Amino acid sequence: MTGTHPPHVGIDAMAFHGPEHYVDMSDLARARGVDPGKFLQGLGQRQMAVPTPCEDTVSMAAAAGRRALRGFDIDPAEIGMLIVGTETGVDHSKPVAVYVHDLLGLSERCRTFETKHACYGAMAGLTAAVDWIAAGRARGRKALIIASDIARYGVGTAGEPTQGAGAVAMVISAAPRLLALDADAAGDYTRQVMDFWRPLYSKYALADGHYSIACYLDALSGALADARDKCGAPERLALASMRACFYHVPFVKMARKAHHRHWEAELGRAIAPGDAAAAAVAASYESRVAPWLDLNAVVGNIYTGSLFLALIDYLRRLDPVDPPAGDLPVSLFSYGSGCGAAFCLGRVQAGAARYAARLDPQPALARRRKLDVPAYEAMLAACEAADESDHAVADPDAWQLEGDFFYVGTRDHVRRYRGGTR
Ligand code: HMG
Repeated sequence: MTGTHPPHVGIDAMAFHGPEHYVDMSDLARARGVDPGKFLQGLGQRQMAVPTPCEDTVSMAAAAGRRALRGFDIDPAEIGMLIVGTETGVDHSKPVAVYVHDLLGLSERCRTFETKHACYGAMAGLTAAVDWIAAGRARGRKALIIASDIARYGVGTAGEPTQGAGAVAMVISAAPRLLALDADAAGDYTRQVMDFWRPLYSKYALADGHYSIACYLDALSGALADARDKCGAPERLALASMRACFYHVPFVKMARKAHHRHWEAELGRAIAPGDAAAAAVAASYESRVAPWLDLNAVVGNIYTGSLFLALIDYLRRLDPVDPPAGDLPVSLFSYGSGCGAAFCLGRVQAGAARYAARLDPQPALARRRKLDVPAYEAMLAACEAADESDHAVADPDAWQLEGDFFYVGTRDHVRRYRGGTR
């Protein structure tokens, strides 16, 4: 997001969709012979979404997309651009986005593609959509950006407690009801690092876990430095004026580390535990970051949608009876391993509180069914088999699934889906 965008392009509608099952992190810790405190307090995770073989990147993206359109009364015909950000696509060639385009019944006169850069993919899509609208190419139409992923590291790995799955859909327009993006206060960062990747032959990600945390924090410093240089008035980025700070959340504790680094970058020095500023930084975390990490704590890492899940958590808590006055400044930081990152500012729109109930996924999350650890492991194995050959079959009824869209198997080398508008 650079240059001369009108300040009001931004997010007009949002929705989350996730799997209908989860595993409890205390159960998982005990099964792995780990003190539950490590997963609960050490990582900050309470539950982890577990998809069935029928809930894949496409079906979750379509469900989130439909919910965003219907929940905010947007006609599919208004969508002129569809981008799905994902690092867990379903085909080496065909984009997830074109399946979703069909399932949602969007117009053929639509620019449709998939973006991949680990967890940064959807932010890259969002940026492209903002540029498209700001450049006047949208001709009154809107863009639908969907982040959809299944995070898998495998049984018994260090990354296992940081798995998850889900999709966040966002409609971008020139008159956003939720969040306007400030294109002039944005920074970018790219560096070739091997902190996390997934070779073509593997369904499971590989991570150099502690190094990946260091890379994430360095990328935050780098993107902030770029934003400071570009925006001309660094005081606009001042943390003290932020209502909320949203970060990529691979696990909840990471947001605390990020906020700490954010303050260090602003003060231009390290803040050690006994430092005079440490208490203020901790208090800032409690008021600007922690209150809206509940959804991430019960869903887990959804890769490219994780940052936006925290934003949904914030928006769903706005009080429609006593809404906050005026536009509220917030910051967003997206990190994708490998790595690419972006920082930008936004303003929560004055009327956003009216939509709090529409985008709240809590009722659906409360209906999820709990799996014990053997059932979760069986589910992972079933997902392995669900698309590894032609004639693979996946039956939503076998898991009493209630959603609208499902992967039902591969026949004649073609993935088949149930649901949709046609
Ligand atoms: P680990 O080595 O198993 O855990 O891996 P640890 O020993 O570092 O412990 C984790 C925390 O728990 C520590 O806290 C411990 O002190 C604490 P910290 O020092 O960090 O504040 N702890 C306890 N707390 C309370 N009670 C206890 C207890 N025991 C320990 N009993 C790691 C953790 C995150 C590295 C691992 O899960 C992993 O590799 N995850 C995958 C990689 C990852 O999530 N990286 C994050 C940054 S990169 C990123 O965000 C991009 C990504 O989303 C991918 C993409 O872009 O697509 C991953």
